[in-house]
Amino acid sequence: MKVQAVRGTHDIYGQDLLKYKQLEEIVSKYANIYGFNEIITPIIESTDLFKKPLGEHSDVVLKEMYTFKDRNHSLITLRPEYTTPMIRAAITNNLLEKLPQKFYGIGPMFRRERPQKGRYRQFNQINFEILGTNDISADVDLILLADDLLRNFFPTKKIDLQINSLGDKNTLKIFKENLSLYFKKYTRDLSEESQKKIYTNPLRILDSKNTKDIEINQSAPKIFDYFSDEAKDRFDNIKNLLSDSNIIFEINPRLVRGLDYYCHTVFEFKTNDLGSQDTLIGGGRYDGLTKILGGPDISGVGWAGGVERLIMLMRDIDKNEKKTHLILLHQNFRSYGLQILNQLRKNNIAVYFDYKYDLKKSLSRANKLNSEFAIIIGEEEVKKNQYILKYLYKNIQEILTLDQIIKKLKE
Ligand code: HAM
Repeated sequence: MKVQAVRGTHDIYGQDLLKYKQLEEIVSKYANIYGFNEIITPIIESTDLFKKPLGEHSDVVLKEMYTFKDRNHSLITLRPEYTTPMIRAAITNNLLEKLPQKFYGIGPMFRRERPQKGRYRQFNQINFEILGTNDISADVDLILLADDLLRNFFPTKKIDLQINSLGDKNTLKIFKENLSLYFKKYTRDLSEESQKKIYTNPLRILDSKNTKDIEINQSAPKIFDYFSDEAKDRFDNIKNLLSDSNIIFEINPRLVRGLDYYCHTVFEFKTNDLGSQDTLIGGGRYDGLTKILGGPDISGVGWAGGVERLIMLMRDIDKNEKKTHLILLHQNFRSYGLQILNQLRKNNIAVYFDYKYDLKKSLSRANKLNSEFAIIIGEEEVKKNQYILKYLYKNIQEILTLDQIIKKLKE
C-alpha cells in the first residue's frame, strides 16, 4: 500500500514553504503597523458556530463543511473560515469590553470543494477583522491594508479591486424577495444549480458563471435601486474615500460573496494570473453577526486572503545562504567529528553532515546542495588538529585550525 495525501490537501515544502514563511512574516509586520492583534483559535468548533451565521443555504454549509459527531454526540466542524471563530474567541474571552478591537490570524481552513488549481479542501487564510465600529473609515482602512500588502508582495502585478454594497439588512431582504420573483420567471432557462437557489439563495445566482445565467442576470433587479438613503450615503462616501486614497476600483453590482453574514460594503481583489480561482482576497461588513453569536450588538468588517493563491503568484525566494558540508573520511573519527560539528554549530555556523564517510560521495552531495565550503577531516587532520577547508566554487583549499575556520566562515 502506498499511502496518499487526502484529496484536495497538499504538503508545503521547499520554495512554497519559504514563501509561506515570508508571507507570514510580512503579514505579521503589517498587522503590527496597522494595529491588529493576533488570535489563534482551535481548528475544531461546534457546528452551530457556522450553520446559521454562514447561511443554511450557502454552499459552504450545504455541501462543504467537514462535520462529525464527537464521542459525546455533539457536532463538531473543522472551521471553514476564520471570521466566526475569531468573534467567538473575542466573546468567550471577554475581549469586547473596549471597542473597537482589531484582530488578525493565519491558519488552515477546511472546505469540501471540488479540488482544482488554487482550490483545496484544506487551505490557509490570512484574516483581518475590526469589531465594534460601523464607521466607514474602518472599511476603507481594511481595503488600504489589503492593497498595501498586495503591492508589497506583487509590485508589478495587475490586481483589480471590485466593490459593491449589499445595503442594510432590510434592503437586502427586500432585494432578495424581488430577485426571487424575477428569477422565478426564468425557472426553466436557468442552470440546474441556479434553479435550486431561486427561493433559498437568489443572491448567488447573480455571480453564477453559467452563460445562460449570465444572460438572465443582465436584466435582473439591481441592489442600488433598493438602497435606503443611509446605505446609499455610506457607499458613496466609501467610494469617495477610496478615490481620495488613490485606490482604483470597479463597482460590480453582481458581487455578492458566498456567506450570508454580509451587509453594506463587500469587496474582492482579483488577478488574471490564476485561471478561474482568481480571487486573492475577499471580505466585507457583517453588522449583527456578533449578536447572532451571542455577543454584544456591535458591527464588524474584515477580509480574508487565500495563502495558497498568494503563494502561487509569489516569485521564488533566493535563500542566499553559505552552506558548509562536513566530510569525515572514516567512521573511526565519528566522535571527533561530532565534537567539531558541535563547536561549529555553537558558533552559529550552518553545517551539513551526511554520514557517508566517503570523500567522493560527500563531495557530490555537497555539490548537489550547492554548498560553498567543505571541511574535510581524515587521519592526518585528526592527528594535527588542522583541517582542510575547501572552497567548492573556487576549487582551492587551505589547511586551518578550527578557530581559523570558524573565523573565516563567520566573515
Ligand atoms: P471567502 O471569500 O470564502 O471569505 O474566502 C476568502 C479567500 O480565501 C478567498 O478569496 C480565497 O483566496 C481563499 N479561499 C477560499 N476557499 C478556498 C479554497 N477552497 N482553496 C484555496 N483558497 C480558498 C471568507 O472566508 C470570509 N471569512 C472573509 C471575511 C473576513 N469576511 C469578513 N471578514
